[in-house]
Amino acid sequence: MEQKKLDVVLGLQWGDEGKGKVVDVLTPSYKVVARFQGGPNAGHSLVFDGDSFVLHTVPSGIFREGTVNVIGNGVVIDPVILMEEITEIEKRGVDVSKKLLISKRAHLILPTHRALDAASESAMGKAKIGSTLKGIGPAYADKTGRNGLRVGDLLRSNYKELYEAHKQRHQQLLQQYPPFQLPFNFDEYEKQWFQAVEALRRFPFIDSEVYVNDALKAGTPILAEGAQGSLLDIDFGTYPYVTSSNTMSAGVCTGLGIAPSRVGKVYGIFKAYCTRVGSGPFPTELFDKDGETLRAIGHEYGATTGRPRRTGWLDMVALKYAVMMNGVTDLIMMKSDVLDNFDTIKVAVAYKEGDQVLENFPYDGGKNVTPIYKEFPGWKTPLSGLRRYEDFPGAFKDYINFIETETGCRIKIVSVGPDREATVVR
Ligand code: GDP
Ligand code: IMO
Ligand code: MG
Repeated sequence: MEQKKLDVVLGLQWGDEGKGKVVDVLTPSYKVVARFQGGPNAGHSLVFDGDSFVLHTVPSGIFREGTVNVIGNGVVIDPVILMEEITEIEKRGVDVSKKLLISKRAHLILPTHRALDAASESAMGKAKIGSTLKGIGPAYADKTGRNGLRVGDLLRSNYKELYEAHKQRHQQLLQQYPPFQLPFNFDEYEKQWFQAVEALRRFPFIDSEVYVNDALKAGTPILAEGAQGSLLDIDFGTYPYVTSSNTMSAGVCTGLGIAPSRVGKVYGIFKAYCTRVGSGPFPTELFDKDGETLRAIGHEYGATTGRPRRTGWLDMVALKYAVMMNGVTDLIMMKSDVLDNFDTIKVAVAYKEGDQVLENFPYDGGKNVTPIYKEFPGWKTPLSGLRRYEDFPGAFKDYINFIETETGCRIKIVSVGPDREATVVR
């Protein structure tokens, strides 16, 4: 049997590019879909059959017949959020227990991680990261600090004692912070946490690295689903305004336990413009009517927290950096329809910092830069009903060509609406 390679879908901007939709669209070509990093900070929306659904921890292949969905070792899991999600999916008639596998090596988010996230953000005041307050940072900090509790530990008879030890250590840490408002009821959440842990036991806790490698060896097509976006990568994003995992393609290897030589296609997803939630540099951010229009037409409100997303023009400096860092083989452009009514569309092609022109994405994420824009005439045609590349208006094809030339990468899929069906494959 031919040794298969694993394909990857990941975001090239600051998250919310439309990864959920794309994974759902691509899943019929795969047998296994696996998440490799992040946790319930993610909110991946799927729209089909007149219905919509937001996934946080469960991979976006869950609604397709015959797919196995794996939560890999690189993911951090909050059992409460995961079980709530599973319950909702089951209400839609999906038998999740037949198609969800969880890595024993995935780390658990404890209620005290959520408290620590809130304490840390509150103590930072104006300099806060703008985290989703799901306990992501503290859970990954415990993982790299070699102090974490893992899914496999739930199988130990003394897991409650282990939990208590972690909780006590976290409570001591919490005392070092200035007083802060806990955004949830701790005792209630802890109760739910233990109930959720018991409920989770009906799912197989597995050595997912063995499962994934065996599946590849057997010729099974696998799709890895990224969360967040490349510019939120802990190493290469707009640090410190990032998340706490490697969101780039390199994270697939450590987050699922596969070798670099096993990575096949890297699908890089981007919006036809930019958005960001939370704090941090955003060179092309708009504070004017155009920015409001993008937010209104694009429904740019967080799928996890409901926060309004910051909006701005497409940034080629950042996009080219993300294409390079991920080794993107195929680009996928999302939400093109949101630009339908603009007279003029702008794209940043370089930055200016003082007298200097910057062509490369700077280490500080462009904190003090002004974008240099190229302008494109708008297409002023509704794209959402179109299903063939040939039918796209010329001005939109010019926009696509420009991005392809600049990135050196072909745009294989163009999304023209939230629904599964609103997708043009070239
Ligand atoms: P993810 O986190 O990358 O999965 O993206 P989110 O689900 O957080 O945000 C993307 C939003 O855009 C969701 O509300 C999707 O339903 C919606 N969406 C996806 N593709 C398109 C598109 O091509 N056009 C429009 N108008 N909306 C889209
Ligand atoms: P998906 O997978 C957009 C942002 C937060 C914050 C920073 C750190 O839906 O694209 P964290 O809670 O991870 O400590 O927050 O990262 N962030 C996201 N922004 N989409 C996401 O996920 C995000 N996950 C985290 O807003 O700025
Ligand atoms: Mg999202």
